[in-house]
Amino acid sequence: MEANNNRGFTSNIGAILAAAGGAVGLGNVWRFPYMLGSNGGGAFLLVYVFFVLLIGIPLMMSEFIIGRRAQRNVVGAFRVLSPKHKGWMLVGIFGIVCAFLIYAFYSVVAGWTLNYIVLAAGGRLAGQTPDRVTQIFSDFTQGSFWPLCNQFLFLALTGLVVMMGVQKGIEKVSKILMPVLFILLLLMCVRSVTLGAGAKEGLSFLFKPDFSKITGSCILSALGQSFFSMSIGMGAMITYGSYIRKEDKLFNTSVWIAVCDSLVAILAGIVIFPAVFAFSMDPASGPELVYIVLPNVFNSMPGGVVFAVVFFLLLGIAALTSTISLLEILVAAAVEELHWTRRRASLVCSIVVFVIGAFCTLSFGPLKNMTIFDSTIFELFDKITASYLMPIGALMLTIFLGWFMPKAEVKDELSNGGAIKARAFELYYFVLRYVAPIALVIILITGIVG
Ligand code: PHE
Repeated sequence: MEANNNRGFTSNIGAILAAAGGAVGLGNVWRFPYMLGSNGGGAFLLVYVFFVLLIGIPLMMSEFIIGRRAQRNVVGAFRVLSPKHKGWMLVGIFGIVCAFLIYAFYSVVAGWTLNYIVLAAGGRLAGQTPDRVTQIFSDFTQGSFWPLCNQFLFLALTGLVVMMGVQKGIEKVSKILMPVLFILLLLMCVRSVTLGAGAKEGLSFLFKPDFSKITGSCILSALGQSFFSMSIGMGAMITYGSYIRKEDKLFNTSVWIAVCDSLVAILAGIVIFPAVFAFSMDPASGPELVYIVLPNVFNSMPGGVVFAVVFFLLLGIAALTSTISLLEILVAAAVEELHWTRRRASLVCSIVVFVIGAFCTLSFGPLKNMTIFDSTIFELFDKITASYLMPIGALMLTIFLGWFMPKAEVKDELSNGGAIKARAFELYYFVLRYVAPIALVIILITGIVG
């Protein structure tokens, strides 16, 4: 459709890669191991995979359906699809708020990758003891200047890419580099699982579920992680859905993205946990887990310095395709709804994110003691968005598509106007209408109550 032309993605593969690139990022390599480590290990993995299959894939399909049907950004999509009931636009605005909050804390960790590229390249991580590696992380994050600089740089880089509308170029580059990241992770897996005594323990921590660990908060965290990792529940996939061509198969695309996304997360787990136990670290260390464990893995690999540089570089690029997708949600909405230029939208949104995001960065240092509900600002943003806002957004989306939009329209969009069979439509529709919303309400309530 016409709207596609000024949006940067005109080809099938471009749009799909963009969506996949937006999904695979720090959520898989950084957040997944840290969440799993803090929430019951194997039990978490089991619940996570269950949610990806049961709710994640249908929800991603739903967002694609909304976006492609409307050919609009996250706010405009609801305006177009529900011209009489303007209230649904609030769901879009909810998504925008969510994107701001996620981008604010995500850019902190994305900035860390830049610092780690420099540390690794300068040989500053090589040959250090595990204690020293941990110290290096806290010295860096507790300072204010460098973490803020890195965050700023990352925001600027993302802003430039989105401003110039060159996502397509980036997606092409990542099409080559992401398989490299995947292979690198595989190599690191080999190193990690051959680390000796701890390695076995790490693998059973990851793969042997201890069912007593499946608590309300484990379930809520796993749900949140599946949403965060797949970028669903807040409009990212509505935005990208609007770029997907009418002849592409939404079901196949969603399954493909979900499989890649989960595979990268599980690989990251296989790298991290054997190393955690081999180096006697705490799997529940929190957000720093990956950054304090991986340098030790590199230190035990021949050619570790090179591996470390390449790895953090690729992780940075994976993060960049995700920050692009976050900013794109905001920019697409500002351009289409407020008629701003891309340039202005990118600039204003990035500045706002930096102002909010600076608090997240500083919450590792000067603002460490400023806690709300026992969490620092960073932890609060992280937890609130993934565990509450995204599931609530998802709930509203399922109600909109399952109960408000006519069934025939949903079927028409999913089957590409009847061109393809969409055999599992009834099953999908049942999940959309009943299973997903009921499950979401129950999980949210049990998670909140305890
Ligand atoms: N899914 C991305 C990741 O795993 C994070 C993200 C969330 C991106 C929501 C866009 C929207 O890194």
